[in-house]
Amino acid sequence: MVTKTISQNTLSWFDEARFIKPDAIFVLTAQYVTFKSPRKVNLGQGTYRDENGNPWVLPSVRKSRELLSQSLNHEYPPIVRLADFRKESRNHYTKKETNEGIACNLQSLSGTGALHLAGLLLRACKHFPRSIFLSQPGPTIIRCCETFQYYNTETKNLEINSYYSALKPAAPNSVVYIHACGHNPTGCDPSKEQRQELASIFKEREVFTLFDAAYLGFNSGNVDSDASAIHSCIEEAKLEAGVCLSFAKNMGLYGERLGCLLLATSAEQTAVKTQSMLEMLQRSEVSNSPAYGAKIANTILADPTLRQAWQDDLITMSDRIRSRREELYGHLVSCGAPGSWEHLIRQSGIFGFLGLSPSIVLKLREQYHIYMADNSWISIAGLNKGNVAYVGEFITKCLKQNASPRCPDMEASEVSTVS
Ligand SMILES: Cc1ncc(COP(=O)(O)O)c(C=O)c1O
Repeated sequence: MVTKTISQNTLSWFDEARFIKPDAIFVLTAQYVTFKSPRKVNLGQGTYRDENGNPWVLPSVRKSRELLSQSLNHEYPPIVRLADFRKESRNHYTKKETNEGIACNLQSLSGTGALHLAGLLLRACKHFPRSIFLSQPGPTIIRCCETFQYYNTETKNLEINSYYSALKPAAPNSVVYIHACGHNPTGCDPSKEQRQELASIFKEREVFTLFDAAYLGFNSGNVDSDASAIHSCIEEAKLEAGVCLSFAKNMGLYGERLGCLLLATSAEQTAVKTQSMLEMLQRSEVSNSPAYGAKIANTILADPTLRQAWQDDLITMSDRIRSRREELYGHLVSCGAPGSWEHLIRQSGIFGFLGLSPSIVLKLREQYHIYMADNSWISIAGLNKGNVAYVGEFITKCLKQNASPRCPDMEASEVSTVS
């Protein structure tokens, strides 16, 4: 150990460091991993899993890797990242061939890195955001925000009126952070009409929309349909907006840290300046970001056959998630679990709340080894044909045994939900 001589009064340069508690969801995963039981079920980890509970390498990604292995080198990619990757991601995520709207883009360290870059850019620009609006409950990767109630624990549905009324008086130059689809943690998304209404509020209040598009393709199996909220704002309402793409989930490239920040700006001249700022920010953050994931994605996006194979993979994943949802619902209903479970099949995407009290969640964890967050947020990907009946049966059993079965006082915000 280093003995220190920095000053007489301090022992370390880092005495002032605060202790930050580990993220609850990582603690839960560690508990799950440590516990040895063939029956254990992990509903607390938000990564896609196959029917055997294993990570899934998409067939389109496998193919792309095979093709790449013949020509791979390990040179630095340019600061803005691979030109082809940027072009293909922009093409792929904008509706029209013209790419109307999207003016700037930059490869990022997955979705988190895109959000971080967007935050740096907004902070560096003249109109420093007055407020950043964030749904409650919402992910913990964004902090220091004004929150609005997004979810109604009674109806187990989206609380659209509180969303509208939070944004209607928003000061100009505010930012709203939105999930493009498959809202994490609630699994509740606004309808098409509600999205249009929101876009018109953002336009009226001059609110900048920052889309967290981490799960495009997981709702419907189709990236373009899942991007309809983005299209409503950028192409229909003609708003400036940012889109933080992640290829972690929809290409299963979790560890490759591949994302992209797309920006729609109102004028071409602004776009040129903004792009140059993004490049400067990138330079000081990561300089050259990882190349391998970008090469995999680019090979898929640029080749019509591989792109089709990827679309088939998205259908495989989204269909599996939907089927497991429906099966859990079916088991709960047929076992006679007290209460209504319609919310389970109303939710979409990989996440959702079951609506169980913390005491039931604890019982499920301790007695039946079914792991989920304290607020009963679950990742449907943890369900498979081998465990879904077990999960349905023991949720029902715990609810029937418990005097106060369902959870009106659920504190959705207590547990972190981003895996
Ligand atoms: C809603 C949401 N946004 C962004 C992320 C960040 O993902 P990544 O940085 O792995 O792309 C996550 C991670 O799970 C998430 O759930």
